[in-house]
Formats: sequence, structure tokens, C-alpha cells
Amino acid sequence: MSGIRQLSFKLVPGENATELLDAQAHIWNHIFNFVNSMSLKCAIELGIPDIIHNHGKPMTLSELITALPIHPTKSPHVYRLMRILIHSGFFAPKNTSENDQEEAYVLTEPSRLLLKNNPLSMTPFLLAMVDPMLTTPWNYLTTWFQNEDLTPFGTAHGKTIWDYGGHELKFANFFSEAMASDARLVMNVVVDKCKGVFDGLGSFVDIGGGTGTVAKAIADTFPDIECTVLDLPHVVAGFQGSKNLKYVGGDMFEAIPPADAVFMKWILHDWNEEECVKLLKRCKEAITINDKKGKVIIIDFMVENQKENEKSTETQLFFDMVMMVLVKGKERTEKEWAKLFLDAGFSDYKITPILGLRALIEVYP
Ligand SMILES: C[S@@+](CC[C@H](N)C(=O)[O-])C[C@H]1O[C@@H](n2cnc3c(N)ncnc32)[C@H](O)[C@@H]1O
Repeated sequence: MSGIRQLSFKLVPGENATELLDAQAHIWNHIFNFVNSMSLKCAIELGIPDIIHNHGKPMTLSELITALPIHPTKSPHVYRLMRILIHSGFFAPKNTSENDQEEAYVLTEPSRLLLKNNPLSMTPFLLAMVDPMLTTPWNYLTTWFQNEDLTPFGTAHGKTIWDYGGHELKFANFFSEAMASDARLVMNVVVDKCKGVFDGLGSFVDIGGGTGTVAKAIADTFPDIECTVLDLPHVVAGFQGSKNLKYVGGDMFEAIPPADAVFMKWILHDWNEEECVKLLKRCKEAITINDKKGKVIIIDFMVENQKENEKSTETQLFFDMVMMVLVKGKERTEKEWAKLFLDAGFSDYKITPILGLRALIEVYP
């Protein structure tokens, strides 16, 4: 007999067995939350959205199996992968008139956004975020809560994410490409819906601008604006500017080139309050040099601006946790943003909520 006392839990009369089983199912769903992202990753690596798209009409399971780059022994499992991806909204079933015995698959809006040749494809973002280099730090979250490290990423990899990029070329490339894919999508909306934000600007600097997707979009749409991309030297190394676009390698916390507008997309959410205030003060210097009165333009999450929607709340909470695990930042409410602006010496701001979960914020000195 072991010395451990066995606790016995029994349903007492009147206790609800349904509630017990619901609680168990709830836990199962959370244990296996990763199944959705891993199944999607597999579908993208196998090229399923592109294969169905290139087929030009609804594609039956047997046609899909023939086209897929898989080992013949795995053919019987394809329908299982497709079944969960239909459930998660990436494909839809359709009966074909030619062969209504066999279900066929079509793309949905989200899978169209994952096609390789879609100029707004989110595939680079997906593949980067589910790469083991970025998922491994999640295994260190508990350790990080119990040590003094700055981030779980640092606990896992021994460096900040930015230093890691300076050493691991593969990581730096897929991270930059992930950011660029998001920038392409966002700038499409910004240039379409917020052209007025750039009216009257003579110069524009995108700090932490990565490989220059935002600045290129501004430089092409507004040929009279002198655009600069400032990012870490290893990120901008080898990039050529054009007539009204140039690349500068440097540290944004040290110096920001003077400009009528300093732009930051997905920058401040990477940093803690103290660092954000320091960065915003640098931005203020850059836009007010020689008695100028420029502005700072920010694109970032505005937590709770779509509170009514359960799914968007979860997306914002996911991103906030990602910021905690990978960098030292967080996602902020309007109140938290306003405090940052005030602490950095700005007098006013204007929010344009045209970017779904994110907002465009203009900040004035
Ligand atoms: C989350 S990414 C955002 C990239 C881009 N703004 C976008 O949204 O597509 C953050 C960027 O900040 C850059 N960065 C980090 N620390 C920096 C520093 N001290 N000075 C300049 N850039 C920096 C990174 O290299 C990276 O390109």
C-alpha cells in the first residue's frame, strides 16, 4: 500500500454530470488549441490553397490527393486534414454537378489571403509566427515568471529578439518578410482610406521600418515626399533606395533623422512604458527641429476599441501575450496610449479607427 491518500470525487445526487463533461471538453479544447495553427501550417507547407486555386474549379478529394506532394501511404489521411480546415473556415465543401458523389473543396476569404501570389498574402507572417524559433519561448513562460529574465524569448535563446536577428540570418529574413507582408496589407488600406494623413508632408521617416515596405508605398504614392527608412544596420544592409527613398542603419533610441512626420508601425507595442516615452521624446525632437511642428503617425493595436466582438478580444489578448513572450512590450488601451503621449510631452492626438483591430493615431507636439 502506498502512503498517498486517494481522494475520491463522486457526483453527489443532484450534481450536474453535463457541467462536469462540459468542463472536461472546455479543457480539451484549450489543450489542443495548437491543432488549428499546426494544421493550417501543414496545409500551407503542402501548398493546398494554391493547388485548389490553380485547379480553377471546385477540387474533389481524389483530385487533391493526386496533386499533393505527399507519400502515397498518407493519401487516406488527407480528408482528415481538410475536415478540420473546413471546420476552422479555411476551405468550404461544395458539391460538383459532374460528380456529386464526391465532395469538392473551394477556397474561402481567409485561404485566398494565404495564396502565394496574392500581393497581400499573409503566408510569410503565418510561417514565421509558427516557426519553432518563435514558438520555443512559450515553453519557457513559467521559468520566466520565476526568474529575472526580460523575456521568455531571452530565456529560450539567450538574446533579445533583435540581437538574435543580427546573428541568425534565416530568422532575420523570415521575420522581416513576415513584417513586410503585414505592411503590404496595411498600407493598401492606409493609402486607400487615409491619404489625407500625408497631405502637406515634405519628409517622412519610418523608424523600425524593416525592409521599407511602408516607406516604398508612401514614396510611390506621394513622389514629393522625401522618405527615409531607419532600422538596425543588419536589417537595412544591402537595400538600395530610389529617387525619394533612402535607407539609414542606426538605433532609433539614439537618433532619428529630422522629418515632418515620424512613422511607427508595430514599434511601440514592442517596448515597455519607459522605453516608449524615451522613443516618443526622440520622435518629438525629430519633428520639432528648427521650430517645425510635424507629427508622429502610429499604427498599432488599440485594445478594447472593438470590445463588442468576442473574437477580436481574443485576437488582441493573443497579441498581448505574444508581446510578453517575445519582446518587452504590450498592447495598450486608449487611456494607456494617452498617458504615453502626455508623459513624452505631446499635447494632442487623433485616432482614426480604420484598420480593424488596429488604429492609426496622429500625435501632435
Ligand atoms: C515588429 S517589427 C515592425 C516592422 C515594421 N515597422 C512593420 O510593422 O512592418 C519591429 C522593427 O523594429 C526594428 N528595431 C528594433 N530595435 C530597433 C532599434 N533600436 N533601432 C531601429 N530599429 C529597431 C526591428 O529590426 C524591426 O524591423
